[in-house]
Amino acid sequence: MRRLFPVTDVTDVTDDTAAREWSLAELAAAYAYPEPGPDGREPWLRANMVSTLDGAAQHDGRSQPISCPADMRIFGTLRALADVVVVGAQTVRQEGYRPSRARAEFAAAREAAGQGPAPAIAVVTASLDLDFSLPLFTSPLVPTLLLTGAGAAPDRVAAAERAGARVVTAGEGEAVDPARAVRALADLGHTRLLTEGGPRLLGQLVAAGVLDELCLTVSPMLTAGDAQRIAGGPSVTLPRRFALKSMLEEDGFLFTRYQRS
Ligand SMILES: NC(=O)c1ccc[n+]([C@@H]2O[C@H](COP(=O)([O-])OP(=O)(O)OC[C@H]3O[C@@H](n4cnc5c(N)ncnc54)[C@H](OP(=O)(O)O)[C@@H]3O)[C@@H](O)[C@H]2O)c1
Repeated sequence: MRRLFPVTDVTDVTDDTAAREWSLAELAAAYAYPEPGPDGREPWLRANMVSTLDGAAQHDGRSQPISCPADMRIFGTLRALADVVVVGAQTVRQEGYRPSRARAEFAAAREAAGQGPAPAIAVVTASLDLDFSLPLFTSPLVPTLLLTGAGAAPDRVAAAERAGARVVTAGEGEAVDPARAVRALADLGHTRLLTEGGPRLLGQLVAAGVLDELCLTVSPMLTAGDAQRIAGGPSVTLPRRFALKSMLEEDGFLFTRYQRS
């Protein structure tokens, strides 16, 4: 049994990597998606979230005040490893989501992995109440996807498509069914999935049992108040157990990586 530190393979290092900042390539290697099996690549859904010590997933309606530069470095690395970034519409509205960008540092690795220059953003929405004149829809490198239900308002679907978005149906009524969303993305060739929340979306992914991995940044801050936790909605019947795969630290922030056990 492991006791206290060191806790993981990645942090249990004796060479010089313990004493210096990791390069983006080293970070990318540490966070690599699982290798494909004999039948090819299965979808793998990873979430990346940040929480304060007292469980707040936002401050003043945003996650930036509880984040830090190292968190943003990992955030960018996880995006660079992903085929698609799945995000709830409220996070898009509140955080002013922009298209993901192509980054020179990751260009060769993405090409070698058979990926385009940047991950697509897939917005989960029932209402399609989004501003389709924003760059997220008008000028992404790869078309932004909208995951919605079959009951979505036809005029909003038409407006989204006129703006250049690709509308993907993944539910019978207005709501998206999480398992169907994962399958629909895999059918489009997106198997390296990353979700950036928010809490209402993540709660449903947890409840549906489709989350494979959680990259959780523990921010050394206390905020009190009534902020959301990283996952909301109805609780699951039995807590789902995850196993700690790695943990990094910088400036008091912990960068944990848990996988479904
Ligand atoms: N700490 C972190 O790491 C982190 C990460 C992300 C966000 N946040 C924070 O979380 C807050 C926003 O999160 P949130 O939980 O309120 O919202 P959210 O999960 O980002 O988005 C909720 C919206 O997503 C759509 N949606 C969710 N589930 C759906 C389903 N099954 N079918 C169809 N549409 C669905 C709906 O959009 P429509 O209303 O369009 O139908 C719903 O209103 C912000 O304050 C943000 O800063 C924190």
